[in-house]
Amino acid sequence: MEDTPPCSPAPCAGLRIGDALPDFEARSTMGPVKLSAYRGRWLILFSHPADFTPVCTTEFVALAREAHSFEARDCGLMALSVDSLFSHFAWLRLIKQRFDIEVRFPIVEDPTLVIGRAFGMVAPQDNDSATVRTTFFIDPAGVIRAMTCYPANVGRSIPEMLRTLDALQAIDAQAGLAPANWQAGDALLQSPSHDLDDVFAADSETAWFLREMPRKGAK
Ligand code: BEZ
Repeated sequence: MEDTPPCSPAPCAGLRIGDALPDFEARSTMGPVKLSAYRGRWLILFSHPADFTPVCTTEFVALAREAHSFEARDCGLMALSVDSLFSHFAWLRLIKQRFDIEVRFPIVEDPTLVIGRAFGMVAPQDNDSATVRTTFFIDPAGVIRAMTCYPANVGRSIPEMLRTLDALQAIDAQAGLAPANWQAGDALLQSPSHDLDDVFAADSETAWFLREMPRKGAK
């Protein structure tokens, strides 16, 4: 019988939705950054495996092109990798020259991986200590509201990042639920009733637990 490999914690395992992210201060391409300075607005904190790699380059070009869309939602972007500040600078210069776009959100250097490890951004089975593609959606109170973890060889979808942010902001504003494939402007769902009288009085089999919220302004 083959040996079963020891169970190692998955990346993202240390932190969960609902946790407050521990604060940190670090050097970045936009000067020193402090996580807690983002309180009061949304923040997407994400790690990438390495500068000067193909998938990461496409992610940064796509994110820089959509930076205004995150700004319009009052959401900052902050990236992090094991590479040094000077590697980040050289990569951003190359991206500007080749793709005609300036990456103006901070990219944190984490050469000792002290942040990446604390935040579960490091794949424990990898030898090179590169961070995986972890993304934290952090609300204005500093609480993790959503998180994703992709392998190094699959790039993230920027429209899906924006959709997730829209959904989180909409459910907060309207105390509703975002259904599958929800897009900004679609109806949210109501929380199901906990009252048996509502269950019996509902005008269809599903209406007591699956119903849209009334649209704002609708009579
Ligand atoms: C990339 O961004 O293309 C990449 C980074 C690390 C490992 C594999 C691919």
